[in-house]
Amino acid sequence: MKTPKRIQALVEEGLIDEVMRQLMSGKEATVYVVRCGDDIRCAKVYKEATQRSFHQAVAYQEGRRVKNSRQARAMEKGSRYGRKMAEEVWQNAEVDALYRLATAGVRVPKPYICFEGVLLMELVTDADGHVAPRLNDVSFSHEKALEYHGRLLREVVLMLCAGVIHGDLSEYNILVDEHGPVIIDLPQALDAAGSSVAASMLERDVTNLANFFSTFAPELAGSQYGKEIWRLYEAGLLTPDYPLTGRVPAPTAPADVGAVIHEIELARQEEEDRVRYLTEMQD
Ligand SMILES: Nc1ncnc2c1ncn2[C@@H]1O[C@H](COP(=O)(O)OP(=O)(O)OP(=O)(O)O)[C@@H](O)[C@H]1O
Ligand SMILES: [Mg+2]
Repeated sequence: MKTPKRIQALVEEGLIDEVMRQLMSGKEATVYVVRCGDDIRCAKVYKEATQRSFHQAVAYQEGRRVKNSRQARAMEKGSRYGRKMAEEVWQNAEVDALYRLATAGVRVPKPYICFEGVLLMELVTDADGHVAPRLNDVSFSHEKALEYHGRLLREVVLMLCAGVIHGDLSEYNILVDEHGPVIIDLPQALDAAGSSVAASMLERDVTNLANFFSTFAPELAGSQYGKEIWRLYEAGLLTPDYPLTGRVPAPTAPADVGAVIHEIELARQEEEDRVRYLTEMQD
């Protein structure tokens, strides 16, 4: 097909030889199948900030720490330089996360480069070499659903052990290749340690998984893997192989019986005083 304008720079640099077809156009990006020499790859072209959805922007502001304070100040002010900086930080966020996660052993597409707002990465395919389906397009037996749910929880734990929370994990951002699930779409990934919304984002990601698989394995509905994982993480106990149960213990601290009795005594005295007061008024 004719090279889209946004990809032209990568063709000129020799990073891409040919754009074969558009795969899809989502909220944040348009994705193409491209040829690089003998390899077929995937090019994700980010949309401009104004075209992106609001929740991504919030998650990004909350979760992303900018190392350079001049950049941070400019971004806060929203100046033109600041917006350009913010745009670059955003565009590089996904490739950074992909490198970090690939190193940590998480199944993600292999990243090659992010250049001029275009992320070049491995095209995830099925056994026949066709573009891999999304998890949402795959049907599971009860047993397979439990297996995939367990595997994806392990991926979430591996990510968290590497300090990363996906932040938009769902059946739409997971592909299925011949070996299992592959996690995609990470521009909003958060730093687990640097964000006030980390716990709730992690819980939402994990709940999305349980909700999806509970269609095939109803016992997953109502499981509390997100809470469990976060507690272990905060306690410094989380490891990739930690045996998860999906349950979190009820509060175990013994009730403070002394304090309860004291409260009851105060209420009783208050009532006595009230009755005495009323009686005195009548006299
Ligand atoms: N590496 C890849 N290999 C194969 N297909 C991919 C790859 N990356 C993305 N896709 C396809 O392109 C779609 C959009 O990609 P992605 O989710 O990263 O972008 P997005 O703009 O955030 O999309 P959405 O708004 O739908 O979430 C995916 O659902 C998937 O079908
Ligand atoms: Mg997506």
